[in-house]
Amino acid sequence: MSEYPTRYAHITGWGTAVPEKVLTNCELATMVDTSDEWIVSHTGIKERHVVAPEESSATLAADAAIKALDVANLDPSELDLIIVTSASPEHLFPATACLVQDRIGATKAGAFDLLAACSGFIYAMNMGAQYIRSGAAKNVLIVGTETLTRFVDWQDRNTCILFGDGAGAFVLQESETPGGVLSGIMRSDGSGGDLLCLPAGGSKMPATAETVSTGQHFIHMNGREVFRFASRVIAQATREAIAAAGLKLDDIKLIVPHQANLRIIESAVRHLEISLDRCVVNLDRYGNTSTASIPLAVCEAVQDGRIQPGDRLVLVGFGGGLTWGASVVEWSGPFPTKHKVRPLKYRVLARLRSWLLRGARHVEGLIWGRENQ
Ligand SMILES: CC(C)(COP(=O)(O)OP(=O)(O)OC[C@H]1O[C@@H](n2cnc3c(N)ncnc32)[C@H](O)[C@@H]1OP(=O)(O)O)[C@@H](O)C(=O)NCCC(=O)NCCS
Repeated sequence: MSEYPTRYAHITGWGTAVPEKVLTNCELATMVDTSDEWIVSHTGIKERHVVAPEESSATLAADAAIKALDVANLDPSELDLIIVTSASPEHLFPATACLVQDRIGATKAGAFDLLAACSGFIYAMNMGAQYIRSGAAKNVLIVGTETLTRFVDWQDRNTCILFGDGAGAFVLQESETPGGVLSGIMRSDGSGGDLLCLPAGGSKMPATAETVSTGQHFIHMNGREVFRFASRVIAQATREAIAAAGLKLDDIKLIVPHQANLRIIESAVRHLEISLDRCVVNLDRYGNTSTASIPLAVCEAVQDGRIQPGDRLVLVGFGGGLTWGASVVEWSGPFPTKHKVRPLKYRVLARLRSWLLRGARHVEGLIWGRENQ
């Protein structure tokens, strides 16, 4: 027998944050040549949430993170690692994960961003679970956060009807009890990178007045090609993840697919020969929230009592890159703990700490004459 313990990564906390403002299809139809009937019949989407000016990917992520830590009953200072995944990060750098680390007061956590477009949450969960299994981390926070409505051209009816804003977070914790993340597969095909992309703002096409005036800072998409790709890979990735966990489709209670389009999910369900009620679908109220869509759907299903401890689920994502992936998880729930921690309190302390650190840096700069150099 191995002298090393077998470690499992359990999902012990979960939380979401969605902006208050709702944009309905009928409102969209006053902005661009479309209709509620067309959007519902072609996508299943009825409305989506849109960020307020004072909100951003980091603020939504921090709100979702605090809720997830509250459910897990875990102090932010006990986190070893924060992985934020986003297709609409706060900046190219610094990483949104670092801004979240500062906002929640995760004083001992490493933090980095992971970019795998709408598959990001699957990739991040897999990576967080691997850190735990290897013994490199005990407590990991993963967050999918998006403000994609800031990157859509509101005159392009091909894309602006699809996307919405929001964030979802999981806390992963180490345990020797079997369960949690049972398998994870990740795939990519960069030959399809141009099918869904944001052409400008990176090193290939840095921002210029021309890139802005020609709309290169907006999402560009070949909808039909992405549709065909997505319909194919959901069933394929689901089967692979179930096989990797040593299970059968019948062992799975619910499938939580990335919420892009109801017709894509219906097509996947036909390929898998299962009924639609074995899938969690909430895209009618959120649209496509990219990396946030899977945790948003999971959290809602938990709240509705559709997911209970011991249930086995497949979480399956696909998106730009092209990327796709799936994981089988056995739902755990929070670990029992003796005392109740209050992550909200840490949020206030985090603000104070951040302010003191900035102040100390300023004073140090004055003393050493480095200010404004
Ligand atoms: C974008 C998408 C909804 C378009 O649906 P579709 O059935 O493929 O529609 P098409 O692009 O074939 O367009 C059909 C017609 O509807 C029109 N149309 C497109 N968008 C429209 C809209 N919002 N309102 C009204 N008409 C629209 C087109 O101009 C076209 O008109 P035409 O026949 O006169 O040329 C669909 O392709 C899709 O969902 N693709 C996947 C996108 C996705 O999920 N991306 C994110 C992945 S993570």
